[in-house]
Amino acid sequence: MKALILSGGKGTRLYPITYTSAKQLVPVANRAVLFRVVDAIVESGITDIGIVVGDTAPEIEAVVGDGSEWGAKITYIQQEAPLGLAHAVLISEDYLGDDSFVMFLGDNVLEGGIASLVEQFVQGDWNSQIVLTEVSNPQHFGVAELQNGRVVKLVEKPDIPPSNLALVGIYMFDSHIFEAVKNIKPSWRGELEITDAIQYLVDHGYKVYPYIHEGWWIDTGKPGDLLDCNRLLLETMEANTLGSIDPESCVSGRVVIEKGAEVINSTIRGPAIIGENSRIVNAYIGPFTAIYHDVLIERSEIEHCIIMENCKITDIEARIEDSVIGRHVEITRSPLRPKAYRMTIGDYSQIGML
Ligand code: TTP
Repeated sequence: MKALILSGGKGTRLYPITYTSAKQLVPVANRAVLFRVVDAIVESGITDIGIVVGDTAPEIEAVVGDGSEWGAKITYIQQEAPLGLAHAVLISEDYLGDDSFVMFLGDNVLEGGIASLVEQFVQGDWNSQIVLTEVSNPQHFGVAELQNGRVVKLVEKPDIPPSNLALVGIYMFDSHIFEAVKNIKPSWRGELEITDAIQYLVDHGYKVYPYIHEGWWIDTGKPGDLLDCNRLLLETMEANTLGSIDPESCVSGRVVIEKGAEVINSTIRGPAIIGENSRIVNAYIGPFTAIYHDVLIERSEIEHCIIMENCKITDIEARIEDSVIGRHVEITRSPLRPKAYRMTIGDYSQIGML
C-alpha cells in the first residue's frame, strides 16, 4: 500500500499568503498542514509516500525532505500545471504501479487520522473507498448518493442534494483508477475531476464503497477554515512550558510555550501556543491563538489568530482578532507626522480598519 499526497494547486483562495508560500505549509497549531497529513499516513502504517508538487516544489522539498524524519520514503512527482486531482493521479502511474493507495489532499486535516479507513480497505475487496461526512449544507460540496451500501452517484454542488454526505479529500483506490483517469475528459473548468473518475468506476461495474467519517474534517483552503482548524487542534493540546514565564505574567488554560520562548509581564489565556524563540512582552494573548517561531508581540493584544514566523507586532492599541498573518510582517505604530496609516501590502490583502 502506498500514499499519494496532492500538494500542487494554485491556492487562489488563500492569496496573498500563497503568492509567496505553499498553502500546505501554513502552520495550524504550529505544525504545517502537510506535516499533519504525513503524520496521519505514517500512523496508518504506510511509509511509501508520493507527493505531487507544482510551482512550490522547491519550498516543499526543502522542508519535508526525504521522509526520514518520519521513518518514511518520500518521492516527489512534478505536475506541470494544476490540471485537476485526477490529472495528479494520471501523472503518478509510474510511481504507484499496481499498488493500492490512499490519496490525501495536502490541505485537509481529519480528526482521528486514517488508520481505520486503511484497515477497512485492506480487508474489503473493493476497487475504491471514498471518505464521506455528514454536512448541514450539502449544496456547497461534492455529494454522494448511496444505494444498498454502495456509492452509485457523485454530484458536484447539487441544487437538490441526494444525501447530506459530502466528499472529504481522502480516497482509497486500486490500480483500476488509471483506466478511469485515462478515459475521462476535462470538465468545464478545464480540469480532470476525481469525481468524474470515481463515477467512471461506478458506471463500469467497479465496486466503490463509502467510509463515513465521524468527527471533524477541515479543508484549509480559505483563511476562516485555517482559523477553525487551528482552534480545533489547539483544544486538543496539553499545557506544556519549555520556555520561560516571568513572575509578573499570568498564563492560564491549555498553553504551550515552546523552547526558547519568553513571556514577560503578559497575560496568556489558552488554548494557545507560543513558538520557539518568540517573545511576548507587556501583551495579551487570548484563546485560539497560534504564534509561530521568532515572533515579537509587544504592548499589543492578539486573539483567535495565526501569526507566522518572524512577525513583529508592537504598540497596537486595538485588539487584533480573527487574522492570519504571513511571515516577516511588521505591524507597528509610527511616530511620524502627519498622523496616517502607512502600508506596504501585497495584492489581495485584506485589512479591517477601526
Ligand atoms: P484545491 O483546493 O481544490 O485547489 P487549489 O489548491 O488550486 O486552491 P484554490 O481553489 O484556492 O485555487 O486543491 C486541493 C489540494 O490538491 C491542494 O492541496 C492542492 C492539490 N492539487 C494538486 O496537487 N493538483 C491539482 O491539479 C489541483 C487542482 C490541486
